[in-house]
Amino acid sequence: MQHFLQISDLSSDDIETLTERALHFKYQGHYPHYTSSSVVNLFYENSTRTRISFELAAKHLSMEVINVDLQHSSENKGETIQDTLQTLGAMGITHAVIRHSQDHLPAQLTTLCPHMHVVNAGDGTHAHPSQAMLDFMTIVEQKPDMHLLKIAIIGDILHSRVANSLQCLFKIMQPKELILVAPPIWQPEVIHYGQITDNLQAGLADADVVICLRVQRERLKKEEFMDLETYRHHFALTPETFAWCKPDAMIMHPGPVNREVEIDSILVDGAHSAILQQVKNGVFMRMAILEALGR
Ligand code: CP
Repeated sequence: MQHFLQISDLSSDDIETLTERALHFKYQGHYPHYTSSSVVNLFYENSTRTRISFELAAKHLSMEVINVDLQHSSENKGETIQDTLQTLGAMGITHAVIRHSQDHLPAQLTTLCPHMHVVNAGDGTHAHPSQAMLDFMTIVEQKPDMHLLKIAIIGDILHSRVANSLQCLFKIMQPKELILVAPPIWQPEVIHYGQITDNLQAGLADADVVICLRVQRERLKKEEFMDLETYRHHFALTPETFAWCKPDAMIMHPGPVNREVEIDSILVDGAHSAILQQVKNGVFMRMAILEALGR
């Protein structure tokens, strides 16, 4: 694997191999040393989970880690991201982990530094492939037979790079059913996989896994704005709506969570929540991804 850009570049074997390796890291506890690798974190959008877990993953593998402080980088003097990346390549950096608001930018940057591995840590509304991989790991750890599962993804499907990457992943890994639940104003014209509905009860009925999405207020255009009380009334995961799922259903959320908007705190912190497991698994999955890219 030269770059890690989008789930549709992977096969089911790739997904299973990365997941097995991530689980091995999680339970085995001692790690290989890749001291000749160096990872630069270039985050042009805010992040807590993804940036820190890529940093921790690289450190666990004894890779050098550089977090670029973009407030004080030469991009503030007019340098382009292309020149920044080539500059880092010239220094011998082996892996660039990039988050950016522009769809497909990480893929466009891959031609600049032939010896550098580019990792997409979230590009605009297009893709967040490492999130989808850690979500898959978290699901199969608890519910190993994907083909038996009904999975519901609830929220702003239109703007969600997580939902895009999950649809691509489930298209490959084939759960029994994938249902996307969104108000009509947040439904895309084209979906990659699954069925879409605005009926929360139909979406949650007998679901094994519920993935709540963050309401991304920063991505909404004026005509896409929806009053949060109205959203909450029709689409929030609450103890009452969660009761439509199977009794042992798991609750997931990529974070950050808007408590009491898309999901109630009592569920975030409750026994069915796998949200902190997702965060924990993210470190091991990102170790598997960095390792698979090579030196
Ligand atoms: N899930 C996710 O991408 O979280 P961060 O924005 O905190 O990285």
